Amino acid sequence: MNTTTLSAMPVRYDPAVETFRDDEAQTQKDLVATLVDMASTMADHTGHAMRAVHAKSHGLLRGELRVLDGLPEPLAQGLFASARRYPVVMRLSTPPAEVLDDRVSLPRGMAVKVLGVEGARVEGSEGGTTQDFLFVDGPVFAAPDAKGFLRSLKLLASTTDKAPNAKRVLSSVLQGLEKTVESFGTRSGTLIALGGHPETHPLGATFFTQVPLRYGAYIAKLQLVPVSPALLALENAPLDLAGKPDGTREAVADFIRQYPAVWELRAQLCIDLERMPVEDASVEWPQELSPFVAVARITADPQEGWSEALAREVDDGMAFNPWHALAAHRPLGNVMRARKVAYAASSEFRSERNGCPIHR
Ligand code: HEM
Repeated sequence: MNTTTLSAMPVRYDPAVETFRDDEAQTQKDLVATLVDMASTMADHTGHAMRAVHAKSHGLLRGELRVLDGLPEPLAQGLFASARRYPVVMRLSTPPAEVLDDRVSLPRGMAVKVLGVEGARVEGSEGGTTQDFLFVDGPVFAAPDAKGFLRSLKLLASTTDKAPNAKRVLSSVLQGLEKTVESFGTRSGTLIALGGHPETHPLGATFFTQVPLRYGAYIAKLQLVPVSPALLALENAPLDLAGKPDGTREAVADFIRQYPAVWELRAQLCIDLERMPVEDASVEWPQELSPFVAVARITADPQEGWSEALAREVDDGMAFNPWHALAAHRPLGNVMRARKVAYAASSEFRSERNGCPIHR
């Protein structure tokens, strides 16, 4: 049972909370072209098509999501309206288009696919039965909008499949710089995105949707937080990656073979559209205005964690996409709108090139 109360009434969802811009369609077209170009560079080189970004998986897990009982009205919305249980598939990843040595230390993504979900769906997702939530281990997106992201992506695209060793050396320099910046009590999103992420265990991390979604009658961002003791012990735990190009994947598999993992899924309701904007993805919603509050738990019992067979099933046979969604969890804002075409283009590309249908 949840005891946290909000300091103000949550903002009600209304289509007017989104503001469309004239240049969106062009930005989305350029994004798709850049992403498909990155994916085909890698497919030509490796003979296998991967995601245009988040190509490398470090953990492929099965688990169960349990909606908490007795949620108060503003939190008992959409998928979280009743205390039900759902099977989930989880994919832990790092963002580049390439499968790099793990000593290039990067942000971590965690995608959660909730299976067997019933209810009205967002347009384009009508045939589906899953609700996907995508998270990264930082509270905000690197750019305010899709246009800003496209600028960095174009820079990144020019380095795809080039100089992996130089990226590893650069990464170790950036990790040192990031430690220095952190000693001043802050973190640098730019250094982290370029390879300066601390070499820590990804299962100790807290993950964020970074951008908002409809939360039934309201609007929210979500967070995935480790809560079981064995996961909590991994918070900021260093990883020894010396001589282990796939050391992150190995550490995840070592852990999940022995211990169950439990996360809390938390929602942060929007209570002020000025200070908690829908359109600007680079603004962190202040937790003192509206805290993240638990709405569900995800449990993954001990299991294999990663294998080639799992990679064929999940990396190749599935697509995690915020637009695989109930109408009650419609993705919101400029970045989310751009993701609709970008994810479809990337998954269609890899499905066609590999001759492997995407099952969900
Ligand atoms: C305009 C902004 C963005 C674009 C164009 C974009 C594009 C993409 C694409 C093309 C994929 C691969 C899809 C596939 O082949 O199945 C992907 C995966 C992913 N993205 Fe984004 N993305 C954006 C923003 C974000 C944000 C804000 C987050 C924060 C949570 C995020 C988290 C992820 C994660 C975790 C994955 C991996 C999903 C998986 O494991 O399959 N992305 N993104």
